[in-house]
Amino acid sequence: MHGYQGLILIRQSGGRQAMKDFLCMGVIGCGDIAVSRHLPAMHASDAVRIVALCDTDLERANQLAARYEVPLATTDHRELLNDPGIDAVVICTPPWITPLLTIESLQAGKHVLCEKPMAVDLETALKVREAEQSSGCQVQVGFTYRHGPLFETLRTWIRSGQLGAPLIYRMGIFDEIWDPDGNPEHYDRIYRTMERGSPSIHDGAHVADYLNFLSDSRVEEVQSFGLRTREEFPASNYDLSVIRFANGDVAKVEIGWFMPRFPKGEFEVVGPRGIAIFDRDSRTVQLKNETITQTVQLEDDYFESCFKIQLDKFVHSIKTGEPCIPGTQAGIDSLALTKAIEKSISGKPKC
Ligand SMILES: NC(=O)c1ccc[n+]([C@@H]2O[C@H](COP(=O)([O-])OP(=O)(O)OC[C@H]3O[C@@H](n4cnc5c(N)ncnc54)[C@H](O)[C@@H]3O)[C@@H](O)[C@H]2O)c1
Repeated sequence: MHGYQGLILIRQSGGRQAMKDFLCMGVIGCGDIAVSRHLPAMHASDAVRIVALCDTDLERANQLAARYEVPLATTDHRELLNDPGIDAVVICTPPWITPLLTIESLQAGKHVLCEKPMAVDLETALKVREAEQSSGCQVQVGFTYRHGPLFETLRTWIRSGQLGAPLIYRMGIFDEIWDPDGNPEHYDRIYRTMERGSPSIHDGAHVADYLNFLSDSRVEEVQSFGLRTREEFPASNYDLSVIRFANGDVAKVEIGWFMPRFPKGEFEVVGPRGIAIFDRDSRTVQLKNETITQTVQLEDDYFESCFKIQLDKFVHSIKTGEPCIPGTQAGIDSLALTKAIEKSISGKPKC
């Protein structure tokens, strides 16, 4: 019997909450993600005041400071870290720079919301955790898209056995269009990023975090293949991985960058009792099993909502002292999985 059990509409952001106090925050690294997501979320929050902006490109920092009426714009992050009036920083630099700045920020007594991946190698990620432990401050890692009711619902469905077991996770992310002539700045930026690892290390960080968040089992085995669709790329730009969990679940993960056209990335969890589908475009998660079809839809813009919740949670943790989630352990777990993918790709025996 197949039935329709209902559509649940969720409005996440609602009105702005009046808060009596606020965190004074700075941003280090004012590129794409800071401009498009973090700064608008911070500006819209009553719980935060943006008091300093830092970027090695002073003009960029100045322009944003003028737009958001921020009193300090600088190219030197130490100027920001030496300011005792700043409680916390958001770090949105390239990921090979982020951990160094995170450690310095912690040593200066600032809480940190750092972008993912928290580092590009495990040794450095562990140093970030050590710095956090000895600082009395907290780090939250920017696994933005796990926040909110859609992923919470998905996790509840999975963990309450609605799909049965074992499970098959099918996930894919295709991003960063290949357009060297139309957008050379973007091409250079992504090329430089790929010099520090394939897309699995970068966008794969989100997928590794989804798996760690959704599954309650540990990863036991990883088999990955990497493909360069153009010889000149510094790393594989398409990685295909099969991941086996201790409880018998498996995941198929595709991460692709630098193609002129993309397929739609899939996100499905399939089990013997049903299927759950996450669809970012329609902002829905849907459960279909033997008896029901249930759809949960987010009314708000998905990205805006995720960045808002991420910031709200960070502020809450800093104010209450409750642990930041996802914290450094989640960052290390995600990186451990993406590094296992990288190792599997480079260690393939030739036939
Ligand atoms: N959470 C998400 O959804 C999400 C989305 C996109 C990017 N990201 C992550 O955010 C990070 C930044 O990505 P981006 O796309 O904004 O990159 P970007 O290159 O557009 O921005 C990085 C900025 O950092 C500045 N910078 C570099 N070194 C600096 C330093 N020492 N001090 C101050 N500023 C410095 C650069 O001038 C640049 O403006 C990456 O780790 C990326 O993976 C996360």
